Amino acid sequence: MKGLVFTEFLEMVEERFGYGVVDQLLTKSDLPSRGIYTAVGTYNHCEMLTLVEQLSSYTHQTVAELLRAYGQYMFKIFTRSYRQLLDRSDSAFSLFHLIQEYHSVEVRKLYPDAELPHFFVEQPAPDHLTMHYTSERKLADFAHGLIEGCLEHFGEQATVTKTNLTDDGSQVLFDIVKR
Ligand code: HEM
Repeated sequence: MKGLVFTEFLEMVEERFGYGVVDQLLTKSDLPSRGIYTAVGTYNHCEMLTLVEQLSSYTHQTVAELLRAYGQYMFKIFTRSYRQLLDRSDSAFSLFHLIQEYHSVEVRKLYPDAELPHFFVEQPAPDHLTMHYTSERKLADFAHGLIEGCLEHFGEQATVTKTNLTDDGSQVLFDIVKR
C-alpha cells in the first residue's frame, strides 16, 4: 500500500486527536516500517490495520467506523491532489463510472507498484448505481467512506447500502440510491 495512504491517515489522527495520539499509536504498534512513511514508498497494508486497531482501542470507535471516517477524509485529499482527474466528472455517478479506469490506468501510471482494488459498476436506473468492490486488502469500509466523501464533494445525497458478498470481506456490493 502506498505511503500516501499512511501519511494522510496519520495527518487525520493528528488533526482529530492530537500529535500525542499519533506518537502513542506509532510506539504501541511496533511496525516493521517503524512508522516512517514517504508518500511514494510502498508498505505492507497490514500496518494500516494495526494502526487502525490501536486507534480503535484508544477512541472506542470500531475499526469499521474509523476506516469509513478515514475514507471521507481521504476523498477531500484526492480533490486537492488529483484535481485534474476529478474535474473530468460533473457528478458522483459519473465519477463512479470512471473509478475502475482511474485505478487501473491513472493510478497505475503514477504508482506502478500500487495494490489496487477492482470495481465493477452498473447503473440500473438514473438514480440507482451498484458498485462491486473486490480486493484482497479488504478495505470496503474505507471504500464506503470514499463513496460518501465523493457524494458530499458533488453536494449530492444518496443512501449507500453495503453488503458483504464473502465472509472474509474481500468482495462487497455497494448499492447507491439517490435521494
Ligand atoms: C469513490 C471513489 C473511490 C473509491 C471508492 C476508492 C477506493 C479505494 C480503496 C478501497 C483503496 C484501498 C486499496 C484496496 O482496497 O485494495 C484505494 C486505493 C487507492 N486509490 Fe482509490 N478510490 C476512490 C477514488 C480514487 C481516486 C479519485 C483516486 C485518484 C485518482 C484514487 C487513488 C487511489 C490510490 C493512489 C490508492 C492507493 C493504492 C495503494 O495503496 O497502493 N482513488 N482506493
